[in-house]
Amino acid sequence: MKRQPRSNRPSARPGRSVSIVGTGSYVPERVLTNEELSKSVDTTDEWITSRTGIKTRRIAAKDEHTSDMAARAAMAAMEQANVKPEEIDLILLATASPDMVFPATACFVQTKIGAKNAACLDVSAACAGFLFAVEIGQQFITSHTYDTVLVIGAEKLSSITNWTDRNTCVLFGDGAGALILQHRDAGAHGIIATHIGSDGNYSDILWMPGGGCRTPITAENAHQHLQTIHMSGKDVYKQAVVSMIDASKKALDKAGLTIEDITCVIPHQANVRIIEAIADRLKISIDRFFVNLDRYGNTSAAAVAIALDEANRSGRLKRGDYILMVVFGGGLTWSSTVIEW
Ligand code: COA
Repeated sequence: MKRQPRSNRPSARPGRSVSIVGTGSYVPERVLTNEELSKSVDTTDEWITSRTGIKTRRIAAKDEHTSDMAARAAMAAMEQANVKPEEIDLILLATASPDMVFPATACFVQTKIGAKNAACLDVSAACAGFLFAVEIGQQFITSHTYDTVLVIGAEKLSSITNWTDRNTCVLFGDGAGALILQHRDAGAHGIIATHIGSDGNYSDILWMPGGGCRTPITAENAHQHLQTIHMSGKDVYKQAVVSMIDASKKALDKAGLTIEDITCVIPHQANVRIIEAIADRLKISIDRFFVNLDRYGNTSAAAVAIALDEANRSGRLKRGDYILMVVFGGGLTWSSTVIEW
């Protein structure tokens, strides 16, 4: 163990620790199986399972929006944390599928959960957004600006998926996850180290090119599916492995830990082969990874948030355990967080 006893550790942020005091998640009822997909596009359960590990994904109802799923996850986290809506100072909502371009989806959530004292904003860092939002929330707490921050990752990717493109439509799903960050006295358990990074040179390997002011959707281009996810799968795969390994090492280094100290890795849930490659190169058993992508597919900013809540509620995380969360997404963006649970 490289890690020092808590009393000997130099505190990176003297005076305050930031703890996760509650988690929550929500997934829509509707389950879409690989078999069903194989009836609408040229694919098979065997192809999807062997190439990705995904068996099913959840699809939101027509009138169930990103903010609705976000609010359900937020309320579960607030209940577990025993935090009242009016105690929340800030709502950060990570999403690539907001209810609208503006106002921020976080504002709709504010109304739905009654967090009348909160400032609200959305965080746009695609699939890596949730841990970017955790980092922003932590900064607001350590700077003594706020005491209680609600962080949400929520997506209705089914609304920005091209359901005729087998290269992408088999991968994604809908859902939401949330956590509550609160200040604690210095040295308490909580977030130990974080790392965030981006590389805009690769923006075009994973993007939704239409629907913004650069390429508005018009009657002429509506048939081109520009308002859906476009992806160069192989390039994304390579970048995901490299950047999640690098981000893991950076956060571990900052934390003064090695990978052997980590009892549970909660990675972005995109493809089980990506997770296996990371486990292999970091030299850590795949058993230490929490994986639920077989049931939900890739829910982008919600993925690691839902996984954290499921790991928490299933008893997988024990007090004092060191947990590594690591994510990757369009941008490109990546982020990692080491927590003492
Ligand atoms: N069913 C059947 N065949 C499919 C298919 C599907 N759903 N999707 C693609 N194929 C085909 C391709 O058309 C290609 O056919 P071709 O050789 O005739 O052109 C063939 O399968 C192989 O495609 P390839 O790209 O080599 O597959 P792969 O092993 O790289 O797996 C992904 C494809 C998308 C699963 C993989 O690249 C991946 O997971 N990439 C990362 C995606 C990701 O994580 N995105 C989000 C990041 S946040």
